[in-house]
Amino acid sequence: MAFNLLKGKKGLIFGALNDMSIAWKVAEKAHEQGAEIVLTNAPFALRLGDTDKLAEACNSVVIPADATKIEDIENLIDKTMERFGGKFDFILHSIGMSPNVRKGITYDNLNYDYFLKTLDVSALSFHKILQVSRKKDALNDWGSVLALSYVAAQRTLYGYNDMADAKSLLESIARSFGYIYGREKKIRINTISQSPTPTTAGKGIMGLEDLMDFSNRMSPLGNATADECADYCIAMFSDLTKKITMQNIFHDGGFSSMGMSRRAMDVYSKNLDALEFKDVTHKFKK
Ligand SMILES: NC(=O)c1ccc[n+]([C@@H]2O[C@H](COP(=O)([O-])OP(=O)(O)OC[C@H]3O[C@@H](n4cnc5c(N)ncnc54)[C@H](O)[C@@H]3O)[C@@H](O)[C@H]2O)c1
Repeated sequence: MAFNLLKGKKGLIFGALNDMSIAWKVAEKAHEQGAEIVLTNAPFALRLGDTDKLAEACNSVVIPADATKIEDIENLIDKTMERFGGKFDFILHSIGMSPNVRKGITYDNLNYDYFLKTLDVSALSFHKILQVSRKKDALNDWGSVLALSYVAAQRTLYGYNDMADAKSLLESIARSFGYIYGREKKIRINTISQSPTPTTAGKGIMGLEDLMDFSNRMSPLGNATADECADYCIAMFSDLTKKITMQNIFHDGGFSSMGMSRRAMDVYSKNLDALEFKDVTHKFKK
């Protein structure tokens, strides 16, 4: 539903690869709510993905940039300001990638070159975007910057690997830069911690379907979808959330506050019964 929540606002959106991407949904909804947007993604992703189609539908343009390269980000910010005829109001960082996850390398056997790449792509890129934007004075006062995170930044979740460390760093950057940018320009910086979601990046995580089932059973409101995440991003870009900054805000149906739910316990108990049937040594554990 269009409420013109972003009427008159202009924003830069990183990470729309295909129509499953969270950034894709944010771009569609931002356009629907009256914003003007610029889309960007890494050159390799633009060759593989459908970002041009999205640009056409949102009356937007695509400016390629590898978010780990300062010169690409500088060019991106300059071109975005040219397109908008000056400063803009919001940025979405929706970027994540771990070569260790991609190659199935476990956390106790990490390749450190890959680990550095994970941190660079998934977390330092956020700092780089903020630093270049501030140096170029690209954002209007009371602007809003968001990055997407996951609860593995706080709690250990099997299979999330070095992405957990990247998300911890990402959330810390939001706090540290949030102080500087807030103090000077009233710009707010937050991370949204989203439920597991079936996207290209999400599907790289070991056992995503089982993880989604588990977190859905654990969450009183169920998993949050990509569409619902996009709605939340729109609220955070709007003037209705002007005093929220330096926060990691959970958008996960309640998962992060749970310890055990009835629905998850039901499945767990059934498996114990099955184990007892096969192996009596598990019996005492019940
Ligand atoms: N899918 C999930 O379960 C889930 C849950 C919580 C948080 N998130 C986070 O949401 C964000 C978006 O991911 P998604 O799930 O929509 O998947 P996605 O695969 O659609 O998006 C990831 C994007 O990162 C981009 N990217 C990778 N390397 C880049 C680089 N060097 N420069 C610029 N862009 C680069 C990709 O091209 C892609 O567009 C990520 O930060 C992800 O960690 C995802």
